[in-house]
Amino acid sequence: MKIIIDDKKQLDLLAAKMIINLVKEKPSAVLGLATGSSPIGVYQNLIVDHQNNKTDYKNVSTFNLDEYFDLPIDHEQSYHTFMNNILFKHLNISLENTFFPEQDNPQNYSLLLEKHPIDLQILGVGSNGHIAFNEPGTPFYSTTQYVDLAESTRKDNARFFASLEEVPKRAVTMGLKDIMQAKKIILLAFGLNKAEAIKMLIDGNKTSDWPVTILKEHPDVTVFLDYEAASLLK
Ligand code: GLP
Repeated sequence: MKIIIDDKKQLDLLAAKMIINLVKEKPSAVLGLATGSSPIGVYQNLIVDHQNNKTDYKNVSTFNLDEYFDLPIDHEQSYHTFMNNILFKHLNISLENTFFPEQDNPQNYSLLLEKHPIDLQILGVGSNGHIAFNEPGTPFYSTTQYVDLAESTRKDNARFFASLEEVPKRAVTMGLKDIMQAKKIILLAFGLNKAEAIKMLIDGNKTSDWPVTILKEHPDVTVFLDYEAASLLK
């Protein structure tokens, strides 16, 4: 596992460069994308680069990690809406090549991922160590499925909704096994509330109590940490 500790601005640039270089080398690259606040700076750098250097996303495909279950996909807080507003509409990506876990047939998404292996997966991490919406206790061999959100995750995400009651209770998420099949993974963690999960990932043992620790076994992970997220490391 490669670990880079720096200012967030610098990390956003570095992570974006990895994506841009891949897309330039392989115009039909398959990207695994995350929502949440962590990747926003990286996505902004992709947009600036696309405007300045015309990096071409015409043949790129994207697979998002997760989506709320009981929220219409055009809801302002759905991950479909998030991705359209934060990234897709600013690139020349074809929306037909952008995929999300299927609400009516989650297993189909895992099959689709087998046919289109992810070249580079962007990940954030929850304060409780979840990746995508794979909450603590999820078996490491899980594939795309319906999940109940942990109360701590609903509280973390309540900042995007008018109240905690409005935060969905369920989601559809790519499984841990699906994520591990990505050829390369970038994990982004910023802020003090990620420090414990990062300590478990880097200094702890692999345990399903902290789903992020599954990444210890992946052959090509780069972890991008700001100083706060790295503050509990040995
Ligand atoms: C969300 C998403 C995850 C994300 C994580 C961290 O609930 N389902 O994919 O990585 O929680 O979010 P943030 O980046 O806003 O801290």
